[in-house]
This record gives sequence, C-alpha cells and structure tokens, in this order.
Amino acid sequence: MSPKNRPKVIAGNWKMYKTIDEAIDYVETLTPLIKRSQGSVYLAVPFTAIYPTAQKIKELKSPITLGAQNMNDASEGAFTGEIAAKMLVNAGADFVILGHSERRHLFHESDEFINRKLKQALRNELQPILCVGETLEEREQEKTEEVLREQLTKSLEGIGAEALSTLILAYEPVWAIGTGRVAEPADARGAHLFCRRFLAEKWGEEAGLQATILYGGSVKPENAAELLAQEEVDGLLVGGASLSPQLFSQIIKAYKRQKSTSSKGETS
Ligand code: PGA
Repeated sequence: MSPKNRPKVIAGNWKMYKTIDEAIDYVETLTPLIKRSQGSVYLAVPFTAIYPTAQKIKELKSPITLGAQNMNDASEGAFTGEIAAKMLVNAGADFVILGHSERRHLFHESDEFINRKLKQALRNELQPILCVGETLEEREQEKTEEVLREQLTKSLEGIGAEALSTLILAYEPVWAIGTGRVAEPADARGAHLFCRRFLAEKWGEEAGLQATILYGGSVKPENAAELLAQEEVDGLLVGGASLSPQLFSQIIKAYKRQKSTSSKGETS
C-alpha cells in the first residue's frame, strides 16, 4: 500500500472534559463544519458521553467515529470503577485509545497491561489507537528509539499481522502533550519512520507500509498543516485543541488542504 492510500485520521481526545449536554452541543456544532471532510474524524469522549453522543451522531448522520479513552483488560468481573470493552461497544464506541501517556504516567500502566487491553479490544472488534512516546529526560539522553522499541515490542507482543493492520499507532512525545511545545516536524517524521521500520522488521514490509501513524502533542490549527506535510505522518491526535469544535474543524481542514496540495503532485 502506498503512503497516499493509508487511512488518514484526525482524532480528538477530550480527556476528562465535557458533560453529556456539552458533548451533544459539540457534535451539533462540529458536524456541519466537517460534512464534506474526506479523512476520518475520530472523537474519544468520556465514558458517560458515549451512548448519548452515539445517538446524536446517528440522528445527524454525522461522519464522526466515536470512541473511548481507556478500558480494562478483563472481559468482566469484580473491578470496581473499571469498564469493559463489550460495554464500550454496546454503548456505541468503535475505537479506544490505549497506552496514553497520562495513563502510563499518572496511573502507572505497564506495557504488559496495555498489551492485554489491546488483545481484549481486538477480541471485541474495538479498534485500538495505541500511544507510544518518550519523556523529555529520555529524549535528552537520546533514548527515544530505545523507548519506542521497548513500548512497541511489549505492547504488541503476540499480535498477528492481520490484527496489526486494524490498529492505529500514535506517536506522542510526552514532553509535547499539553505543554504548547510541539515536536519539530523533522523529529516527528524521524520517530514515525522509526516506528514504521520497526513494524516492517517484525511483521513484514507490507505491515510497515500500511500502518497508520498519528502524531500527537500540542497540535493546533497553526502547526497542523506543517506536521501533516510530513510523508510519514498519517494524521493527528489532538487533545486541548479538540475541545473547541471551531479549532478542531480548522485542524481537519488543514488536513484537507494538505491532502489536496499533495495530490496535485501525484503522478498516478
Ligand atoms: P494536547 O494532547 O494536544 O493537549 O497536547 C494530546 C494528547 O494528549 O493526546
């Protein structure tokens, strides 16, 4: 699969923001702004908002793909406060973010735990968005590739090539998340290329070529186009700027502009 055929995704991650009413208002505002968008628009909302937002998306025939921000690795059980993959699917979620750095660092989630969640998500036909990325200290010690290799190796352990082709990878340098400090486009390209080569080495050339890899960390309308211009960057995972439908739609439009500019240069 050539890079231009890779699925393109702009994903929003609301984190712990928005009540049900706010989520409904948001979808009503965003939908007309993205009607003719060609890339996929994903939104990861709080658990409480999944069901009512899914209903609103259906009613509006909105192109938004809805998902969750986390889940437990067990299919069900005595795990107070946790949520199972089948509950998310039943509520209307199509995807789930796994291994976000806030889960890794604030809630001490290990790669092994993330790997078990990933397998559980796949068993339930929930598309995982697997997040990986290094801390500032690790980057300064030039350990970025080592960290990415370890996170990818452990969190994808036991995943076959076919399952791999259904998931999305997100490179999110921890130092860029919520800090206003975005990665240089060349750094993002380098990290994406590393991930792609790693996948190709382990799962074969086609798996590397096919993988959809998003960049995340302080994405704003002002820097979206430049990041998307990197050949290795297939889309964006947006936190803070996805909370405003206006800002998020500007980022989606940056993707469309980028796509139409690059397709003019294509020969096939
Ligand atoms: P940010 O968050 O865009 O606010 O930096 C990105 C993320 O956490 O996915």
